[in-house]
Amino acid sequence: MKQQVLNRVADKSAVIGIVGLGYVGLPLMLRFAEVGYKVLGFDIDDSKVDALMAGKSYIEHISAESIAEARGRGFEATTDFARAPEADALIMCVPTPLNKYREPDLSFVLNTIDSLVPHLRPGHLVSLESTTYPGTTDEELLPRIESRGLKVGQDAFLVFSPEREDPGNPNFTTRTIPKVCGGVTPACQEVGVALYSAVIDKVVPVSSTRAAEMTKLLENIHRAVNIGLVNEMKIVADRMGIDIHEVIRAAATKPFGFVPYYPGPGLGGHCIPIDPFYLTWKAREYGVNTRFIELAGEVNSNMPDYVVGKVAAALNKRQKAINGSRVLVLGIAYKKNVDDMRESPSVMLMEKLRDLGAAVAYSDPHVPVFPKMREHKFDLKSVPFNAETLASYDCVVLATDHDKFDYPLLQQAAKLIVDSRGKFLEPAEHIVKA
Ligand SMILES: NC(=O)c1ccc[n+]([C@@H]2O[C@H](COP(=O)([O-])OP(=O)(O)OC[C@H]3O[C@@H](n4cnc5c(N)ncnc54)[C@H](O)[C@@H]3O)[C@@H](O)[C@H]2O)c1
Repeated sequence: MKQQVLNRVADKSAVIGIVGLGYVGLPLMLRFAEVGYKVLGFDIDDSKVDALMAGKSYIEHISAESIAEARGRGFEATTDFARAPEADALIMCVPTPLNKYREPDLSFVLNTIDSLVPHLRPGHLVSLESTTYPGTTDEELLPRIESRGLKVGQDAFLVFSPEREDPGNPNFTTRTIPKVCGGVTPACQEVGVALYSAVIDKVVPVSSTRAAEMTKLLENIHRAVNIGLVNEMKIVADRMGIDIHEVIRAAATKPFGFVPYYPGPGLGGHCIPIDPFYLTWKAREYGVNTRFIELAGEVNSNMPDYVVGKVAAALNKRQKAINGSRVLVLGIAYKKNVDDMRESPSVMLMEKLRDLGAAVAYSDPHVPVFPKMREHKFDLKSVPFNAETLASYDCVVLATDHDKFDYPLLQQAAKLIVDSRGKFLEPAEHIVKA
C-alpha cells in the first residue's frame, strides 16, 4: 500500500484533499495546484465553497486570478465529505481556538475527523496541520482512523505537519518555508515527507507527531515570550525616559546572539496569543507549570491598558478626559498590511476607550467595514484618512502601522498622536509614545 501511495505522489496522479479552506488551507491548495496535482477542497462553509467555485477569493492577499487559475487546473471545492475517497491525501487545516476558559477547543479538529472517518479508505494519508498540543494526533486522530478498521502505518498513513504561514510577508512563499513533518510510524513519515517534498523545497522530518506538534508550539511560544519581554522593557524604558525603539535598533546591530522583537499595543492574530495555552493546558496533565508562558501572557494582555493609560494622560495634559473625547484608532487588523482581525489588540483598545466614554472611530485601508466578530461589536465603517478627518479628532491612536498610511500627513494634521508602534522617530510635542 505504501509503495502505491508513493508512486501516485511521484507521478502526480495523487489527488490532494485540503480540508478547511482558510488562511492556511488556501495557499496550500494553490501550491499543490501549481505543481500539477488535482486538488479537492472541503469546507463546511457554503459561501466559501461557492466563492472558490466561481474563481473568487475571500482573503485579501490571495488574488482571485490565482483561484481562477487553480480552477483551470482542475481544483474543485465542495461541502460533500462523501467525496473524500476521491482524494489520496486529506490535509486538515481547521481552526484550533481556545474556549472561554482559555483551554484548547479541539471541536473543529474532532468534527472534521468525524466527518472524514466514514469515508476513509485504504491508501489514505491524513495530515493534521492545525496548531495543537503534543499528543493530539496519536490520542485523538489515530484511534478514530483505526476505528474504521484501517491499520495506521500499513493501510493508511497519519502525520502531523505544522503550518508556518506568515500572512502579508512577501519574502516567503508556501514553497520556500521549510516544513516539519512527523509520522505515527516510520512508514507514515516516509509517505508524509514524500507528499510535502513534492511541493515544498525543504521538508524537515522529525521522529514523531508529538515532536512535530511541540516544534510548532516552541516557535510560537518563543515569539510570545520575547514579545512579552520587550513589552516589559518598553515600560521600564519609558519610565526612564529612554526610547525602547532606539534601543532595539541599536541592539539589533549585534551580529550574533540577539534577535529583535518589537513592542506593541498587545498580541494579535490566530496563533501567538492562543497557541502557548495549548501547551499550558497539556503540561498540567504532567504536573508541570508553564511559568514563562503565563507571565508573557500577563504582560502582553496588559498592553491595551497601558496604551489607554497613555491616551488618558496625554488628553489630561490638554485638559481633556477620555470621556467625551473623539478618538480615532488607526489600523484595526492585528498586524500591518493584512486584513485579518482575529484577536486584534486594536479591538480591545477600541472597547476600552468606548467603555471610558470616548466617541471611537477607526480608519483601516484593509478593513472597510468593522466585521462581525464573535465577542466584539462595533457598528462602524473605516473613516477616510485625510487631513480634515485627522484634524477633527482629539486623539489619534496608531495601533497597527500599515504601510498604506501617509505618516507625514498624519504627523502634520493630527492634534495628538499616541504611537504604539514606534513609527515616529523624532520627538514632537503632540506625539506620545505608548
Ligand atoms: N493563519 C495563520 O497565519 C496560521 C499560521 C500557522 C498555523 N495556523 C493554524 O492553522 C489552523 C487553521 O487556521 P486558519 O488561519 O487557516 O483558519 P481559518 O479560520 O482561516 O480557516 C479554517 C477553515 O476551516 C473551515 N472549517 C471549520 N470547521 C470545519 C470542518 N469541520 N470541516 C471542514 N472545514 C472546516 C472553516 O470554514 C474555515 O474556512 C489553526 O490551527 C491555526 O492555528 C494558522
